[in-house]
Amino acid sequence: MKAAIILPVLLLFCFISGCQTHSTKPEENKAVGSLEDTPSLKSLASFNIGMAVQARQFDTHPESDKYLTILNQSFNQVTAEYEMKMHPIVANSLSNGQLVFNWDAPDRIANYARENNLKIHGHALVWHNEYATPDFLENWSGSDEEFTQLVLQWVAEMVTRYKDVVASWDVANEAFRDGCTRADDCYRDSVFYKHMGPDYIATVFQAAHDSDPEALLFYNDYGLTYDNIKRKAAMNMVDDLVGRGISIDGVGLQMHIDINFPSKSQIKKAMDDIAKRDLLVHVSELDVRANPETRQNFTFTKSHANKQKQRVYDVVKTFRNLPKANQFAITVWGFRDADSWLNSFWQSPQYGLLFDNQFNPKPAYDGFVESLK
Ligand code: XIL
Repeated sequence: MKAAIILPVLLLFCFISGCQTHSTKPEENKAVGSLEDTPSLKSLASFNIGMAVQARQFDTHPESDKYLTILNQSFNQVTAEYEMKMHPIVANSLSNGQLVFNWDAPDRIANYARENNLKIHGHALVWHNEYATPDFLENWSGSDEEFTQLVLQWVAEMVTRYKDVVASWDVANEAFRDGCTRADDCYRDSVFYKHMGPDYIATVFQAAHDSDPEALLFYNDYGLTYDNIKRKAAMNMVDDLVGRGISIDGVGLQMHIDINFPSKSQIKKAMDDIAKRDLLVHVSELDVRANPETRQNFTFTKSHANKQKQRVYDVVKTFRNLPKANQFAITVWGFRDADSWLNSFWQSPQYGLLFDNQFNPKPAYDGFVESLK
């Protein structure tokens, strides 16, 4: 066919179809809708759609209905936002060196998941942060062997207790520093590093695998998109585990991004780096800050909403462009804007999530939907 014929035919086709299959932009200015007239994310996706949850959201009160409606409509995987970390479960150890567990909150989450046929992505077995590492480990004065035994006991108890419902685990979280100058000198100086040595990551991956050989095991971190040296350090560690035959199935990119940063190509590069190793990619803690300047008097405008929508659209599209075999899941880090950890972490309103405070889906939710079509 000659160009003179092809062009009008193409234009006519575009006119009829809207050329949607080639679009890289979501629709602008769509109004906030109600959940009832919004499509379900999980029914559109061929990978898991996760939500960060808190046990209180399963209690019986008027708001819990709303949380549960959203959860059941759109999500098929949950992650405990904090209640499966070590600090809230193991506040203490006894003098005979045994850990003392409080299973109340994690059991409520696990039971809800069991009863409602949701998978759990467990988060996180080893994390240096004060929200995750109990004070008695942070201030450890015993021997390195005793420290290691307690960590191994924790991993074994946790993974074994929930092996029927936790299908995957973040085994190690945020093990590398920001802004390193060398990839071979980038480990965070955590108590785990101090008492167990640089091989602590291999040790905990092996322990998790021993307790549940079926569970998919992940390394999870932030900043792997924009900090190339940190990503190199993490990938070297991953390659080392793989090379030694230690079970690791994927890498989680936390994806706490903002409306401008990091770039789409940085996000793509990090995803590609994981996928080319034949590992699973997890967008593990998605939120998009609308107020990166951390203004106190901040108004979330239509323009912010549309930028946020575009960002969610781009992240999901980039993920969907990976080979199917590498697409593990996308997990959103909370329900409503007001629920988000971002507001307290950045000490400013951030409007970072997919639902407004009345539980209505925001344009960002539509961005997720449109990128799945
Ligand atoms: C945050 C939770 O959202 C907060 O509720 C908690 O108090 C602290 O941790 N990276 C992670 C997550 O891996 O576990 C963090 O979650 C956010 C940053």
